[in-house]
Amino acid sequence: MISSFEIMTNRQKIFLIILLLCISGLSGFIISYYLHKKTITTDDKAISFPQTYHTPISFVKQLQGDPNAGEKIYKEYCASCHAEEAIIDVPAPKINDPKAMQKLRKKGIAKLLKTTLHGKGAMPARGGCFECSDQQLLQAIHYLIK
Ligand code: HEC
Repeated sequence: MISSFEIMTNRQKIFLIILLLCISGLSGFIISYYLHKKTITTDDKAISFPQTYHTPISFVKQLQGDPNAGEKIYKEYCASCHAEEAIIDVPAPKINDPKAMQKLRKKGIAKLLKTTLHGKGAMPARGGCFECSDQQLLQAIHYLIK
């Protein structure tokens, strides 16, 4: 007996394999989405949403000895306020704004580190990265004002 797989052209076989991979990937995604769905009940209603994970300690651990640690910390913690199109609307000096960055450079790195560690105005202490070491925050500042 000739199975239908044997009479297929190579192109059709590849297409079929890709199709099966897509279907299995998609169903895996849907299943994991529902398994990780979490419900929180507030006073008046239950809110259902996919489970999220925030693991700052392991994030910071991975950065040890990484020459790009400053950039990674900036993207994870500082960009929400310091990016050109920041998602948090606060009057933070924006990265790549030459005037603002020149002003910061003039203050000197020691002063910038001090204000970063303690927070200033709308900026939380340590820029919100409480797990970051002082050295790592310094790397993030260098990346910001580079
Ligand atoms: C919630 C928003 C927010 C986050 C997150 C944030 N900043 Fe800021 N940052 C600000 C604001 C607002 C200012 C301006 C403060 C002022 O001058 O009143 C500022 C100022 C600064 C300054 C200048 C300080 C000075 O002496 O003038 C540095 C350096 C800085 N931030 C670094 C960082 C670093 C590094 C991170 C991430 C680890 C970070 N910030 C995360 C809001 C933020």
